[in-house]
Amino acid sequence: MAPFGVPEIVTAVTAAGSVLDVGCGSARLTLALAEAGATDIVGIDTSVDRLAQGRARLSAQVVGARVKLIEADFDHALPFPDGRFGAAVSRLALMIATDPVATLRELGRVTAPGGRIVTALWASVHDNPWFGLPRAAAVAVVGADRAGYARAFGRLGSPEQATDIHRAAGLADVRTETLQQTLCVHDTSGLWNWMVAENGHVRRLNAALSDAERAAVLDELHRLVADHRTPDGALRLPRTMTLVTATV
Ligand SMILES: C[S@@+](CC[C@H](N)C(=O)[O-])C[C@H]1O[C@@H](n2cnc3c(N)ncnc32)[C@H](O)[C@@H]1O
Repeated sequence: MAPFGVPEIVTAVTAAGSVLDVGCGSARLTLALAEAGATDIVGIDTSVDRLAQGRARLSAQVVGARVKLIEADFDHALPFPDGRFGAAVSRLALMIATDPVATLRELGRVTAPGGRIVTALWASVHDNPWFGLPRAAAVAVVGADRAGYARAFGRLGSPEQATDIHRAAGLADVRTETLQQTLCVHDTSGLWNWMVAENGHVRRLNAALSDAERAAVLDELHRLVADHRTPDGALRLPRTMTLVTATV
C-alpha cells in the first residue's frame, strides 16, 4: 500500500513532467512520481543513509532511471537554476526546516511560474495518537532525553499555520485539505512493532531498550491506548495530515 498522502501528492503534480522532491528520504514518494509518469525527477535530502536506501529502491525499478537523488540541504539555497522544475513536492519534511518560509521561497524560485508546490505536514500530535501515544509511553518509562524523538512532529501542521507559511513565501492559490486514515492493529504489541518497522526513531530506541524497559513501555502504552480499543481488543488509531497545494 502507498504511504499515507503519497497518492494525493502524486495526483496533484502528475501533469508537471519534471518534479523536485524535497527531503525525499528513502525515495518512496519520488519513486511513486516516476511510476505515475513524471519523466524528470530529482530528490534531495541531507541523509546519505536515506539517499542510499532510496538509490537501492530505485535501482530495482525500471522507472527508477528517471530519478536522480542528490545530497542537498533545504536550509540553504537549492543547487538549481530559477524555474528548473515544473512542480515541487515535500512530504513530512518542511516542519524540520530551520526557516520554513525561506525553504518554501526556494521551492518557488526553482519551480517555473504557474507551477505547483505541494507539501504535506502531520497535524498535531493530539490528532495523531498512533504516533503520540507510543512516544508518550516511552517518555514515561525512559525519560524525554532518551525518548523525546521527532520533536518537530505536528509543527506547522494546522491548516491555518500551513496556509500562513505558504502565503508568507509569496505563493498563490494556497489551499489545504485534511487527510485522515485509521491505523488498525491487533493489540498494543502490534502497535509497537508497527512503529518499530515504520519509524527509524522508534527502531533505534527499541534496539536500545532493555527487556525490562520494553515490557514497561508496552504496559504503559496498553494503558494509554485504552480509548482506542475496540470490543474485540484491537486498536483503531487516527492518523491526520494536512496537504497544501499552492501555485508559483
Ligand atoms: C520524515 S522524513 C520524510 C521522508 C520522505 N519525504 C517520505 O515521505 O518518506 C524527513 C526527511 O527530511 C530530511 N531532512 C531533514 N533535514 C533536511 C534538510 N535540512 N535538507 C534536506 N533534507 C532534510 C531527513 O533526512 C528525512 O529524510
